[in-house]
Amino acid sequence: MRRRTIREAFNAGETLVFGHRGAMAQAPMNTLAAFELARGQGAAGIELDLQLSRDGHLVVIHDDAVDATTDGVGAVAELTLAEIKRLDAGSWFSDSFAGEAVPTLDDVFDAFGGALLINIEIKSSRDSVDRMERQLAQCIGRHNMSERIIVSCFDPVVLRRVRGLMPTVMMGFLYQPDMPAAHYLPIKKLWHEARHPRHDMVDEGYMNWARAQGYIVNAWTVNDPQRAIALRDLGVNAIITDAPGHIISALKQC
Ligand code: G3P
Ligand code: MG
Repeated sequence: MRRRTIREAFNAGETLVFGHRGAMAQAPMNTLAAFELARGQGAAGIELDLQLSRDGHLVVIHDDAVDATTDGVGAVAELTLAEIKRLDAGSWFSDSFAGEAVPTLDDVFDAFGGALLINIEIKSSRDSVDRMERQLAQCIGRHNMSERIIVSCFDPVVLRRVRGLMPTVMMGFLYQPDMPAAHYLPIKKLWHEARHPRHDMVDEGYMNWARAQGYIVNAWTVNDPQRAIALRDLGVNAIITDAPGHIISALKQC
């Protein structure tokens, strides 16, 4: 059976639920266990964070250092993939997740590429070169995932590089109210399919504006069931949440 594309899913008239870093309320963030839990809870997709190892591998981890979510120390960019793979990314959360590894993006595509839509958030600084974006384009190509993913980033400069390397891949601009206006400027000249606002930016006026611009709207991070229902009723395309099962059952009830 043909898998539906992410464009088809966003345009199907339903509000999709994406697990933020997996189901991070109940499992260690950005691990295969957290993604499997999101899938089991009925999420349509997952959001994950991407960093580059010293030897150029795409690793799925939120911070630019391994300290907070593994038993190791140091910057991701200073560690090789082999060194990162030796770390325990589960015990900090709970002993029951001891031995969980930091996955690569290849690992995630292998395990969930067929089952879940994937929002890949590039964590990258404006000063860096396009090494990560080039690796990402190759990885998406290897797994034939270009129609199953959306790439998001807070940095318009990174999104411009993504567009140059992957002209047909969906892109979402991440933002929140306290970002300086100058930060927004480069995004105005770059077509992107989606806006990823912090959820408190979204109201009826915002949705009217976004629709007039032709944007898909995917809001983060929504853990309050009443707020999720309100966003669904406003017509948001996707809700990114730490607790997908909780939000899905609230949306089903109302
Ligand atoms: O993609 C939404 C959200 O993940 C952005 O912030 O810090 O949780 O990656 P953060
Ligand atoms: Mg993120």
